[in-house]
Amino acid sequence: MKIAYFFRLLIRYLLPPLMIISLVIITNLTLTIAETKNRTPHYVGSLVCKGCHKDVYDSFMTYARKSRSFSSIERVKKGLTEEEIKGCYSCHTTGYGKHGGFVSLEKTPHLKNAGCEVCHGPGEFHVKTKNPQFIKRRMPKEDCEICHTTERVRAFRYKPMIHGGAH
Ligand code: HEC
Ligand code: HEC
Ligand code: HEC
Ligand code: HEC
Repeated sequence: MKIAYFFRLLIRYLLPPLMIISLVIITNLTLTIAETKNRTPHYVGSLVCKGCHKDVYDSFMTYARKSRSFSSIERVKKGLTEEEIKGCYSCHTTGYGKHGGFVSLEKTPHLKNAGCEVCHGPGEFHVKTKNPQFIKRRMPKEDCEICHTTERVRAFRYKPMIHGGAH
């Protein structure tokens, strides 16, 4: 008798909150998984990476010219038309013309330089999940040649270039 009563209490008061909690966990998980399947991640900007990769970030900001690539445009833009300046963005900013990438200084100031994500790809899903699967680790030199001319990539030689230009 006493045991049955105890179980009834358990079912009445303990089960409902437990069910709600597990439901919340399950729907959150499935939401994230569904989200990553149905959408393209957007760019978050290098500063967000600093939160978990401080050393890489500091080194990048100190040594890589990419981290100041917008100022290169500003330095020489005198005499260029608005259209010509936009032509610089595809290489000198992060994700220009791509989903969730650089749009303009006013709208997306955090993406104005060529940041981590020009090599590693848009970081939104990786940042939200911390899952290394959602970020590109290795990239073929063809990925660099989108912005760097083939001759230059060859002149640099790929290996030192990767380590000199990345972090
Ligand atoms: C909230 C924390 C967090 C943030 C923010 C974050 N990362 Fe990560 N990153 C991780 C963790 C955790 C790992 C896995 C570490 C490990 O396996 O040693 C990782 C691994 C990586 C790897 C290696 C992937 C591999 O396959 O081994 C790369 C590249 C990377 N991150 C790049 C980035 C970039 C670029 C950004 C910014 C867009 C970023 N991360 C932002 C947590 C984060
Ligand atoms: C989205 C375009 C883009 C991609 C992709 C890209 N780069 Fe760059 N990179 C630049 C720009 C722009 C600069 C010059 C920045 C400046 O001086 O204003 C640069 C500069 C460099 C430099 C000059 C040295 C320094 O101190 O920064 C090296 C080395 C380099 N990149 C290596 C690479 C490698 C290796 C890859 C491929 C893994 C790569 N880049 C991919 C745009 C790109
Ligand atoms: C196809 C990609 C691409 C486009 C488009 C592009 N750049 Fe660059 N730019 C680069 C790369 C890559 C470097 C680094 C070259 C290197 O050091 O090997 C660079 C370097 C520079 C530099 C630094 C030169 C130095 O040695 O300090 C300036 C300034 C510059 N670009 C201005 C511009 C301007 C202005 C535009 C638009 C009119 C533009 N770039 C368009 C890829 C590009
Ligand atoms: C020029 C391209 C390029 C840029 C820009 C770049 N990376 Fe990388 N990164 C690489 C390459 C290539 C590797 C792989 C090195 C290897 O595995 O041998 C790498 C490896 C990593 C790793 C894993 C291994 C390690 O060294 O810790 C992390 C984390 C990482 N990058 C984060 C970042 C962050 C954060 C930024 C910006 C602050 C950044 N990267 C900018 C090319 C780049």
